[in-house]
Amino acid sequence: MKNLVMERISKRYGEKQVLQELSLTLRPGSVTSVMGPSGCGKTTLLNIVAGLVKPDSGRVLGRPGRVGFVFQEDRLCMDFSAAANIRLVTGKTGKDPMMYGIFSALGLQDSIMMPVREMSGGMKRRVAIARALCYQPELLLLDEAFKGLDAQIRQQTMDCVLKWRGDCTVLCVTHERAEADYLGGALLQLGRTADREEGEQGSRFPFPSGITREA
Ligand SMILES: Nc1ncnc2c1ncn2[C@@H]1O[C@H](COP(=O)(O)OP(=O)(O)O)[C@@H](O)[C@H]1O
Ligand SMILES: [Mg+2]
Repeated sequence: MKNLVMERISKRYGEKQVLQELSLTLRPGSVTSVMGPSGCGKTTLLNIVAGLVKPDSGRVLGRPGRVGFVFQEDRLCMDFSAAANIRLVTGKTGKDPMMYGIFSALGLQDSIMMPVREMSGGMKRRVAIARALCYQPELLLLDEAFKGLDAQIRQQTMDCVLKWRGDCTVLCVTHERAEADYLGGALLQLGRTADREEGEQGSRFPFPSGITREA
C-alpha cells in the first residue's frame, strides 16, 4: 500500500478559512489522532480525505479504494437490526465470524438482531464502529467515534478497534488526549478556532497544523 498524502489542502466556507495549506503524510498501517477545538476543521479534513468534500486547493494522493468512516453522527438505519445495518454496507450476515467477533469484542453479541431504534446511544455508537470495522477498510476514519461511551466501554471499544483494524491506516478525530494516547501513533493538533475568530481578518493565518508527536 502507498502512503496517504494530504498535500497543501485548503478549504473555506464563505468568509471562513477552515483549512489552510495543510500537509500530512500517513504511512500504511499507521495510527494518527487529530485534536483541536470545535469548528477548527477536523470533520472537514476527514471528509476531504474520504473524498466526500473537494478541497479548494491541494490534493489527496494514495487514497485507498476501501475507506471506512465512522461519522460524527451514527448514520444508522433505525428500523433495521444491527446485523442488517452491517449487511447493507458489507454484505456480511449475522452468521459471519468476523461480525460475531467484533460484536463480542464490543459486548454486543446478544444484540446483533436488535433493532437499532431500541438501542441506547452507546450501543448505536458501537454498531456504527462495528459497521466500519466489518467493512475491512484499508483506511479507517474515526470522527469522535468514542464520544459518549462511558470509561470502561470506551476502553473496550478502543481495544476492539485496535484488534480488528488489522493493518489498516487509522485517522482518528478526538477531543480526549487520553484517547489519542491510548490509540498511540502520531498526534496532529489543528489550529485554534478562537484565535481565528477573534483575530482581525486573516491576520492570524496561517495556523500551522503541526505534528506534535511522531508515531
Ligand atoms: N458545508 C458547510 N457549509 C458551511 N460551513 C461549513 C460546512 N461544513 C463545515 N462548515 C464550517 O466549517 C467550520 C469547521 O467545521 P468542522 O470541520 O465540522 O469542524 P470540527 O469538526 O473541527 O468541529 C465550522 O465553522 C463549520 O460551521
Ligand atoms: Mg467535527
